[in-house]
Amino acid sequence: MAQYSIAWMPGDGIGNEVMAAARLVLDAMKFDAEYIPADIGWEFWCKEGNPLPDRTLNVLREVDAALFGAITSKPKEEAQEELAPELKSKGITYASPIVRLRQEFNLAVNLRPCKAYPGNPLNYRDDLDLVVFRENTEDLYAGVEFHPVPEDFAQVVSKHPKWKRFAETPLDDIAITLRINTRKGCDTIIRAGFEYAKEHGYPTVTVVEKPNVLRETSGLMIRTARKVAKEFPGIELWETNIDAMAMWLIKNPQNYGVLVASNLFGDIVSDLCAQLVGGLGFASAANIGDDLGVFEPTHGSAPKYFGQNKCNPMAMLLTTKLMLDWLGEGDEAIRLEAAIAKTIAEGKARTYDMGGTDSTTEVAQEVVRNLG
Ligand code: NAI
Ligand code: MG
Repeated sequence: MAQYSIAWMPGDGIGNEVMAAARLVLDAMKFDAEYIPADIGWEFWCKEGNPLPDRTLNVLREVDAALFGAITSKPKEEAQEELAPELKSKGITYASPIVRLRQEFNLAVNLRPCKAYPGNPLNYRDDLDLVVFRENTEDLYAGVEFHPVPEDFAQVVSKHPKWKRFAETPLDDIAITLRINTRKGCDTIIRAGFEYAKEHGYPTVTVVEKPNVLRETSGLMIRTARKVAKEFPGIELWETNIDAMAMWLIKNPQNYGVLVASNLFGDIVSDLCAQLVGGLGFASAANIGDDLGVFEPTHGSAPKYFGQNKCNPMAMLLTTKLMLDWLGEGDEAIRLEAAIAKTIAEGKARTYDMGGTDSTTEVAQEVVRNLG
């Protein structure tokens, strides 16, 4: 029997191409795993009315970890249009399988390292080593939304003095998405950030929120951060507003290390950080829960490029490195990262986004050559 069982979820579009690149590298490393294919994505929405079929959830309950490429998702109307004719009348609505996966397995921590590897022509600066911890299951992405607003719900919120401005607006003309943050969710993500900072020697943890306006939700994050920070005496807590953070990250990104944010702010700030170190072709991510880790690059299915084998596999390979780390294969993770770094530094194989003409596969092969 293989040492690890890994759910293999290429998903849609270039997810398939970058996952093939990951497999090339994992096989060359002689990583001892059984890969269990698991369905996810647009195809299964169209055919079955469910982009995350139950059989996939069953696979995920059994495996040690999951590697995931990317999925396609489309707005409400298009989703309805592309549904198989026999399913159209069933009142099924599309929901993101990624968001569901995160909630179903309580993958509360989204880890997104953004490191500048020397020699990458796309680096904003060469001295960046940022790691974003994004809460992954709550906040504005919790999925509690209303349109039209139900009468009884409106009655409850009408007790709030600030509702007055909306009191005359018909409930059908109001849409509400609730920002829901729990003490536990805040504590988990902040603790994850501090523990990572401690383990990897980062002197600061920056909490990126907006407590001056979002007094209760962002406030809970900040209050929790101040409490948790006391348990980590060597690490300084910095508090920065999300809007100011966007400026600071352009002005002085080298000053920052570990960043912690709630779901939506973390989503935004991690894309900003990713662009500082080469963009979506370099942005890796891990979704971590108590029992399962799902590892996926930040980029989507890039339909524009699908079938051309031209997208950068580095985000997927860095994601694979995160998986090795999480599985406790630290030495193998270091070996893979060194091969990635060498490939970037030498610049012999580069995909289009780096100004090269090499294919996804060729870059992966170069990483294999550099494994040593
Ligand atoms: P995208 O990330 O798929 O692509 C946007 C652009 O980024 C591409 O056109 C390309 O120029 C560049 N890019 C992305 N990955 C790259 C790579 N590996 N190497 C080089 N360049 C790369 O985002 P887009 O076009 O907004 O969305 C396409 C589909 O993907 C949509 O259906 C969207 O819903 C879905 N999506 C899925 C995500 C996921 O699976 N986690 C995340 C983001 C979008
Ligand atoms: Mg995003």
